[in-house]
Parts: sequence; structure tokens; C-alpha cells
Amino acid sequence: MSLHVPFFDLKRQNAALRSRLDAAVAQVVDDTAFILGEEVARFEADFAAYVGTRYAVGVNSGLDALALSLRALGVGPGDEVIVPANTFIATALAVDSCGARAVFVDCDPRTLLMDLEAARRALTPRTKAVLPVHLYGHPLDLSPVREVLRERGVRVIEDACQAHGARIGDRSCGAMGEAGCFSFYPSKNLGAFGDGGMITTDDEKLRDRLRLLRSYGSVVKYRHETAGWNSRLDTVQAAVLRVKLPYLDGWNDRRRQLAARYRSALEGARGIELPVELPGARHVYHLYIVRCDRRDELKAHLESRGIGTGIHYPVPIHRQPAYAAAAGQSFPVAEAESARLLSLPMFPEMKDEEVDAVCDAVRAFAR
Ligand SMILES: Cc1ncc(COP(=O)(O)O)c(C=O)c1O
Repeated sequence: MSLHVPFFDLKRQNAALRSRLDAAVAQVVDDTAFILGEEVARFEADFAAYVGTRYAVGVNSGLDALALSLRALGVGPGDEVIVPANTFIATALAVDSCGARAVFVDCDPRTLLMDLEAARRALTPRTKAVLPVHLYGHPLDLSPVREVLRERGVRVIEDACQAHGARIGDRSCGAMGEAGCFSFYPSKNLGAFGDGGMITTDDEKLRDRLRLLRSYGSVVKYRHETAGWNSRLDTVQAAVLRVKLPYLDGWNDRRRQLAARYRSALEGARGIELPVELPGARHVYHLYIVRCDRRDELKAHLESRGIGTGIHYPVPIHRQPAYAAAAGQSFPVAEAESARLLSLPMFPEMKDEEVDAVCDAVRAFAR
């Protein structure tokens, strides 16, 4: 009988860390310190050190990390922000939330990340920021456009929501622009017990502005400097994340091992394209994406054998009902590839035999 393989199984991670997680949550409950406080400050310091920035500011979600960063950098109505068409919708929604316009660009056919040449062509005098996404855990090297962005005063806000621990050389995702935005959605490489997010930065003024914005525009109780929001990282989540952070590099190493195992078993399988890792990039395989012209048949075949899969993402943003105004635009790579993408199971607690079972099933299909 073939092995059933879930797309993702968080229970295994929880079981391994259960007593430490329970103790961390119990401590917050016992202290009744549920909003900000020491535990959030400690996790912010730990996470900034991990990413290699001077500061980190905990917020309520990855979407809020992006939206508040844009607001804190003064992006607003009349401004344009360049966003890839192939990403999770939050990247674009963050731009709308501050009243600016998302300008979509196509993706690089090798990596499916933002096409930097297309981004360069999309620059106008209204461009205030660019939102590169380190999608799937593959870091996007911005060096080809860094100079032109600097000359034009265009800010870089990294969407690192899928890229905790990814690097180009020794530079981590989240430390490459003015602000790095992370999500701690439970299935991320570093996931909380609910929603959570973080902004990393070296800019002290930006940190201070973000601290105001996330908490009603106030750091001193009942004195409101600006019209802020309520988007604080929950203290319980900070406690959970502080337990998990020391394991992140090991988990990412394991993801990389699993990716190598997939590669060695699937290399040469007919009609199956494997993900690339560009030279110098440390990909952390948040998702393991293969491409296949008969994607829907492959998905059905794997599911019939008890293997879970996903599609990230089935519809590019400019073709989503929420972005009807952009529907007439054309981004041929994002459109064509969205019909070919399939995400195979990938999580650090996955066993070698499970990868082998997935590969056997893919090879049986490809034959
Ligand atoms: C690329 C990307 N950007 C932004 C987000 C938004 O993060 P959150 O779900 O924490 O709001 C996510 C994750 O969901 C994501 O994958």
C-alpha cells in the first residue's frame, strides 16, 4: 500500500516542542501581560538579530507589516507602487490600503519572482516604492535595480512573508531594503499559533513611526501623535515564536535537504520542471513548486494516491475579481505559469520515505 502524504502537517512540529510551547504560553497567562510588554520586546530583539537589522517591530499580520510600512514611509494617494502579478494578494492589498495604486509587473520565467527589467520599465515619476516578493522562499536579488531605485528615490519594502532565513550571500531577506515584512501565519517557515507579523529595519525613525502606527498613534498612554491603527503582535504569539526561532535554521536546512531529495529523484522526469535556485541564493523552500503542462491531471493523480498538493497561485492578481480594473492588462508569464504550477508536500518534519512516495507517484505519472 502506498504511503499517504499530507501537504503540510503542523501537528508534528507542535508535538516535538509541546512542553516548551505550553510553558511559554502559561507564563504569559500567569503574568496576564497580553498586550506588548517584555515578551514582545524580547522577540523583536531576537528577530532583528536573526535577520541582521538594528530593529524589528511586531505587528498583527504580514499584510499589516506591508501596509504600515508603506504608510510609515509616506506612501499615499497619487503614488504608485510596483508589485509582481504573481504573489499572494496581500502584497497588492497593502498598496490599496494606503490609497496608492498597485502597478503590476510580470515575473521571471526561471524563478517566477518579479521580473526586475519589467519593474525598471514600470518606473514613472509617481513611483514611490517597489514591493519585491521573495516568493516561495527564493530570495530575489535586487542588485540589478538598486542603483536606479536609489537615484529616483524609490523605496524598497521587501515582502519576506515566505522567506524567513532566506539569503543572498550573507544578506538576509528583510535586510535588503528600507523595511522587511514578515508573516507568522501558522504554516510559514516560522509560524505562530494565529496571526502575527514583523517589520525589520535599520532606520530608527521608521521604527518609531511604526511603533506609533501599530498602537493607536501612541506610545505614551492617551497621548496620540498621529492617526494610528491597532496592529500589535500578541504577546502570546511572541512567546510561541521565541520558543521556535532557535529552530528556524535547522528547519530550513531540513527543507533544503528535502528539496535536494526531490531533485535527485525527479530530475529528468518527462514533462516535470523542477524549481531553480539561482547561484548565490539560499532558497528556504517555503513551497516546493514544480511545473507541468498537464498540471490538473498530475494533481488528480497525486490526490488519488493520497498525496496532498496545493497551487500557489491559481489566478494572478490582475485577474482576480478584486482587481477588475487591471483585468485588461497582460502579464504572459504569470498567466501561462499559473496554469502549470503545482506545490508538492514540503515541511521540515516530512520523512525521507514520504518524499520518496511523492516522487514515485510523480514518476509514475510522467512515464
Ligand atoms: C507573499 C505574502 N505576502 C503577504 C502575506 C500576508 O501575510 P498574513 O497572512 O500574515 O497577513 C503572505 C501570507 O499569507 C504571503 O505569502
